[in-house]
Amino acid sequence: MEAVLQIKGLNKYFGHKKVVDDLNLELYRGEVFGFLGPNGAGKTTTIKMVMSLLQRDSGEILINGYSIDKQYEKAMACVGGIVENPETYQYMTGIQNLRQYARMRTGVTEERIREVVRIVGLENRINDKVKKYSLGMKQRLGVAQSIMHHPDLLILDEPTNGLDPAGIKELRDILKRLAHEENACVMVSSHLLSEMQLMCDRVGIIADGRLIGVRSVSELMSESEGKHQFEIRVKGNVSAAAALIDDKPVEITGEQTFHVTVANEDEISGIITRLVINQVKLITVTEATRNLEEVFIELTGGEGGHQIG
Ligand SMILES: Nc1ncnc2c1ncn2[C@@H]1O[C@H](COP(=O)(O)OP(=O)(O)O)[C@@H](O)[C@H]1O
Ligand SMILES: [Mg+2]
Repeated sequence: MEAVLQIKGLNKYFGHKKVVDDLNLELYRGEVFGFLGPNGAGKTTTIKMVMSLLQRDSGEILINGYSIDKQYEKAMACVGGIVENPETYQYMTGIQNLRQYARMRTGVTEERIREVVRIVGLENRINDKVKKYSLGMKQRLGVAQSIMHHPDLLILDEPTNGLDPAGIKELRDILKRLAHEENACVMVSSHLLSEMQLMCDRVGIIADGRLIGVRSVSELMSESEGKHQFEIRVKGNVSAAAALIDDKPVEITGEQTFHVTVANEDEISGIITRLVINQVKLITVTEATRNLEEVFIELTGGEGGHQIG
């Protein structure tokens, strides 16, 4: 199967700072791909280069096999996307915005406009002025605008930023439908692993401009199975409290807190009992969500710079 997006040996400097470092990546039809990394990792910079909004220093980018340099128009005809905020005319209605945008693309019929409105679920509000839209609705209008010309590759940079949980779910359902039912390739960036787990089929993790690993979400899930980390907050001597848990991995993480890793959630009640019997003053016990860095160090065994899987 030919990749919809191929990035080969991509590099970008801003001044002396290397912000994208030998990035290689292939994305396919039918998948939602999460481009995951902390702020400043190089996600937006990479996306801008893919969309030809920013020059790269070296490397090759192919969309549906078309080079974005040598076959620019053919390549760009296959891409739709939103980088940063979608541009909309606030005083026009949703449908007027879409028609305006359609004029800049060739071959977008009124019928197709109606179709994309349905796909993003804006039928009931499409005749309202955009300034009355919620952020989620604006985001969906942006998606409608981006998919109008049937792109094979849809790229959205941090599309869930600022959305409430309902808005995130709506967007998630739309993107999954585009990938799984319309066979598009959807690339979304995010700094939130939890969101990506629900939305994506695969994720690639980028840090300091380097792609550290690419994994399917199901793989991610199974790898993190059997490992539950809890944060235990106590009053008094935290080291003495942690030392009571001598049969499990523990790590002191603060003046009042330590983490304990258990294979099974049920084991935590035994730990609580043991602490209480030993007169430890427990304040809270909470499941600790692992941060991105921990997850990818675990995934990659600390190696860097290679694409895995
Ligand atoms: N136009 C620019 N000029 C100089 N540095 C930039 C510019 N744009 C981004 N950067 C820097 O490049 C790095 C990557 O930024 P960016 O791609 O926006 O990261 P992300 O989208 O993952 O948060 C950051 O250190 C950022 O400060
Ligand atoms: Mg960004």
